Amino acid sequence: MRKNIVAGNWKMNTTLPEGLALAKGLNDALKNKTTNCDVIIGTPFTHLASVVAAIDTDKIGVAAENCADKEKGAYTGEVSAAMVASTGAKYVILGHSERRAYYHETPEILKTKVELALANGLTPIFCIGEVLAEREAGKHFEVVDEQIKGSLFNLSAEDFAKIILAYEPVWAIGTGKTATADQAEEIHAHIRATLAAQYGQEIADNCTILYGGSCNASNAKELFSKPDVDGGLIGGASLSVEKFLPIIEAFDK
Ligand code: 13P
Repeated sequence: MRKNIVAGNWKMNTTLPEGLALAKGLNDALKNKTTNCDVIIGTPFTHLASVVAAIDTDKIGVAAENCADKEKGAYTGEVSAAMVASTGAKYVILGHSERRAYYHETPEILKTKVELALANGLTPIFCIGEVLAEREAGKHFEVVDEQIKGSLFNLSAEDFAKIILAYEPVWAIGTGKTATADQAEEIHAHIRATLAAQYGQEIADNCTILYGGSCNASNAKELFSKPDVDGGLIGGASLSVEKFLPIIEAFDK
């Protein structure tokens, strides 16, 4: 069956010393603890190699927050999937709404990024989600379907089975406004049905679908108790051990 995962997305936060302290703090907190979910932290590119070296990566997986849509070459400032993989990071967050909105990442660009990530042995954590106007117009189901189809449905079943999805309604990101557990369940179940129609029920059932958007210690348990919500992608509350640890512990019995 599918894995439960709590993943942090640090976004553009923490200097290298601050990030290392955060990663080590989480590592210490989890050292003698059995978790009922996988734990991942998504850090800036500059931190990846040092964070991998500083923690027990069997306990905490490390993710980049992006990678280039080109393999290599004259693309000043870009970081390739191969470079990310060479740091020891195993995951890459792709298609975050902030990348779509501020850096104009289209479904086509994201399709290429997903392919390059997979070709380099990275597991994509692929983000989807509607903006407020789309939710209010009742178009959220359609929007997530298009995002999935536009960037992922070209994949073979074997490759699709490697993808982690994160549903993040844009109106809930960093706003303190969370989707209710029922709203999350409704759309996660819809997403799973979309996956089943394309790849069959077994692959759909095995796909981890995370919820993201103002998820915190006080709402995580209720959200994660829903059958189709397999964990969270956490922004703000992943920036301190005190806030992140209780979200991981929301999976404790
Ligand atoms: P917040 O948890 O800060 O709302 O961010 C969610 C997010 O964007 C994670 O990728």
